Amino acid sequence: MEDFVVSARKYRPSTFKTVIGQKTIVNTLKNAISDHHLAQTFLFCGQRGVGKTSCARILAKTINCFNLSAETEACNQCESCVSFNDGRSMNVHELDAASNNSVDDIRGLIEQVRFAPQLGKYKVYIIDEVHMLSQAAFNAFLKTLEEPPAHAIFILATTEKHKIIPTILSRCQIFDFKRIQLKDVAEHLAYIAGEEGVNAAPEALHIIAEKGDGSMRDSLSIFDQMVSFAGKELTYKKVIDNLNILDYDYYFKVTDAILQGDIPTAAGSACYFNNQNSTYEYPNNRPYCCDRAIGEILNRQFGYNITRGGY
Ligand SMILES: Nc1ncnc2c1ncn2[C@@H]1O[C@H](COP(=O)(O)OP(=O)(O)OP(=O)(O)O)[C@@H](O)[C@H]1O
Ligand SMILES: [Mg+2]
Ligand SMILES: [Zn+2]
Repeated sequence: MEDFVVSARKYRPSTFKTVIGQKTIVNTLKNAISDHHLAQTFLFCGQRGVGKTSCARILAKTINCFNLSAETEACNQCESCVSFNDGRSMNVHELDAASNNSVDDIRGLIEQVRFAPQLGKYKVYIIDEVHMLSQAAFNAFLKTLEEPPAHAIFILATTEKHKIIPTILSRCQIFDFKRIQLKDVAEHLAYIAGEEGVNAAPEALHIIAEKGDGSMRDSLSIFDQMVSFAGKELTYKKVIDNLNILDYDYYFKVTDAILQGDIPTAAGSACYFNNQNSTYEYPNNRPYCCDRAIGEILNRQFGYNITRGGY
């Protein structure tokens, strides 16, 4: 059996062109590279799963490429690019500050920084979740950030910019990564569905993108989960059932029914959408509704006497 690779990893962008929704950042980085105006310390901020680590890796690969294209993209063919793509480049070092946050971890890194790269021009140090570094580790790091050797580039990444001390902030070129727009996420999901041979309804992908809340990684994880549940036919109905989402039809139906005083329909559609009872029942001769919120609204606001059932 083929190993399953989660979509978020399988479809990690590997060129600037394939990064979605971060146009300003990508353009600024590309211009800095082509104008030879590259800062040595960057801070990539933004919520989870919006492309910080991906862009850091692309930048590292691009500035070491021997055959940069006219569009300032890595060639993916030269010795340096190939070693990057195979994950064996000695020019990119990633440190997860969440689990390596001591002074000793930083000292180890500072030691390495002194040595020039053997292949290519730059060594790139990506420090993820940099806000987790201890105060002492931050202090140890400051001097290196102040006067890094010409071959060293630091990319600090964080989801919590407000936790970075001002002395570090003032030494970095700061890039604020945006939440990825719904439309862009939905389009990307459609592309991946196509690649994976999944027949996905646009509304189904839209709901997944909404649930992903601006994070491409979260959206891709939900997509994988839905495909493993629903198979290659991803319909709107399967997605809302599986995500436990009440869709807009439901709200329109219930509010219309309430406004018209049609209590069986109001309570009944709630039951239907909770997958408990698709028929309306009257245990103890009282209306029954398995959606707590709807039941409460009907009782309190409209004076009905609905049994709590199924919740
Ligand atoms: N802008 C983007 N364009 C295309 N894919 C993206 C983008 N951002 C994230 N992804 C997808 O999500 C995955 C994770 O992205 P990445 O590691 O770059 O996020 P991050 O911002 O570093 O998140 P974290 O804060 O959790 O470290 C990628 O492998 C890719 O599949
Ligand atoms: Mg990251
Ligand atoms: Zn190359």
